[in-house]
Amino acid sequence: MPGVSSRIKAADANAEEDLLPPYLSSLAVDGGGRGVYVETYGCQMNVADTEVVRALLKGANYAHVPTIDEADVVLLNTCAIREGAEGKIWDRLRQIRADKKKAAAGWRTRGEPAPPRGPVVGILGCMGERLKGKLLEEEALVDVVCGPDAYRALPRLLARAHAGQPALDVALSLDETYADVAPVREGSDGISAFVSIMRGCNNMCSYCIVPHTRGRERSRPAASIASEVAQLAADGYREVTLLGQNVNSYADSSDGTADAPPMREGFRPMVPPPKAGVRFAGLLEQLALAHPEMRFRFTSPHPKDFPDDLLYVIRDLPNACASLHIPAQSGSSKVLASMRRGYSRDAYLTLIDRVRELVPHVALSSDFISGFCGEDEEDHNLTLSLMEMVRFDRAFMFAYSMREKTHAHRRLEDDVPHDVKHRRLSEIIETFNAGARAANEAEVGRDHLVLIEGLSKKSDQEWVGRTDTNKKVVLAREPVLDATTGGAPVDVAVGDYVAVRVTQALSANTLRAQPLARTSIAQFEAGGVSANALRAQPLVVAPSSIGQYAAGGSHAAAGSY
Ligand code: 5AD
Ligand code: SF4
Repeated sequence: MPGVSSRIKAADANAEEDLLPPYLSSLAVDGGGRGVYVETYGCQMNVADTEVVRALLKGANYAHVPTIDEADVVLLNTCAIREGAEGKIWDRLRQIRADKKKAAAGWRTRGEPAPPRGPVVGILGCMGERLKGKLLEEEALVDVVCGPDAYRALPRLLARAHAGQPALDVALSLDETYADVAPVREGSDGISAFVSIMRGCNNMCSYCIVPHTRGRERSRPAASIASEVAQLAADGYREVTLLGQNVNSYADSSDGTADAPPMREGFRPMVPPPKAGVRFAGLLEQLALAHPEMRFRFTSPHPKDFPDDLLYVIRDLPNACASLHIPAQSGSSKVLASMRRGYSRDAYLTLIDRVRELVPHVALSSDFISGFCGEDEEDHNLTLSLMEMVRFDRAFMFAYSMREKTHAHRRLEDDVPHDVKHRRLSEIIETFNAGARAANEAEVGRDHLVLIEGLSKKSDQEWVGRTDTNKKVVLAREPVLDATTGGAPVDVAVGDYVAVRVTQALSANTLRAQPLARTSIAQFEAGGVSANALRAQPLVVAPSSIGQYAAGGSHAAAGSY
């Protein structure tokens, strides 16, 4: 048997046609009903990719199993964004190998012989792309490595692993979007779905590994997105989140038309944006007009791609949600320049002013990194002051983690001591929490349209849903007037739109509200609910009880991305 590294070379060299050892026929690519268990780490893109992987493996005759003990194949779809994310995966891999006896018991129950090494273990996604063959070598924990653009090769990689050979494909692509793969949305609530519209990143922010793990930007044809969304609408879904590493850089030129993109003053792209017929604003408008009772959100955007025409779509279409993620990363122009973000503090603040001018009720969220290379106390204070000025409704906040291969790793010094980074991070979180709580207090007495997502985890007598502005709302589970028919009170169900009046701020991201009427986006927007049902309900405002629920929203904590 050859050593691991020579076998990796062989796997690498054979990446496409000749992936299988000569004694295996191509029939072996068939999964033969083997059970696959997938764990997903990292961002929503990974969640969406897992749905693509499920579809591809189902097509190759693999079966999804709900627990790891039943699995012939265990796949971890991984994240590489910070050292901590990778640390978790290494721990999990060791645990999976240590638990192989447990897995063997599962096979015995099924009357099958257990493979000597336990299940085939595969690493998918960003950590696979970053570490490549190293993953196969180290501690012999992994059998298969498959990068984010190579999922179509997965059945062949697994066949090779079943034959006892490690297998790897980490080729990045310039055009893979998996546009033709209908994702298998296992475990979906049937209400909210994620739809991937573009992949990759051209920005090259100096701290970020993503361009190295996800490759170049490419957009999925608008027609294929429209048909996936239409299918989701037909299946009863009420909310779609459009996904991409740089979702609002979306640029589809597949219809042959092309124009130059608008660029806001003060923002500079790393590479010239491509010409395209359909840009993000056009796509969002097209989808929102086609499905007026479906909500549309998007993540994760870059501040450079918020032209006025995108803001007009959000202002004018009530189902293009007024909740915008505009990642600032820092409030210091000096740090923003060394991060290579392509904008200054002033340009960012001017953008926020414009967003609030056009969409006054917008809720804003952001990402921040504390302790980036060269950040001093003055820079840090500028971040705090930017947070105070903008008052974000949600934020993802992280201590800087140096990643190999990035510009910062090559050119800058990770010179902010660990304890200083973390002290600054705590101050950033405190500043965020104070602003978000104040913003939530200001919500008391306001009316919102809530999409009901399910019962509250704390009580089956309460529903939980979200406002257009993406705030979590808890409301009593009681019959409400049906404003759509003007008829008698009805029971609310998951997927209903309910008009509510906020009575209490429970935390930085959660509100309590009084249900007023079941309604629709169109009716709520037209004011039909306030005319009829709202008058019938006296408003009961409870005293503030911020702090009663777990501190902050789930996104207030550092590292929760
Ligand atoms: N260290 C810490 N945070 C990072 N992010 C990206 N790269 C790093 C890093 N090396 C954060 C950014 C980004 C979010 C997804 O993760 O804030 O917007
Ligand atoms: Fe993690 Fe970024 Fe990869 Fe998402 S794209 S899994 S956040 S490294």
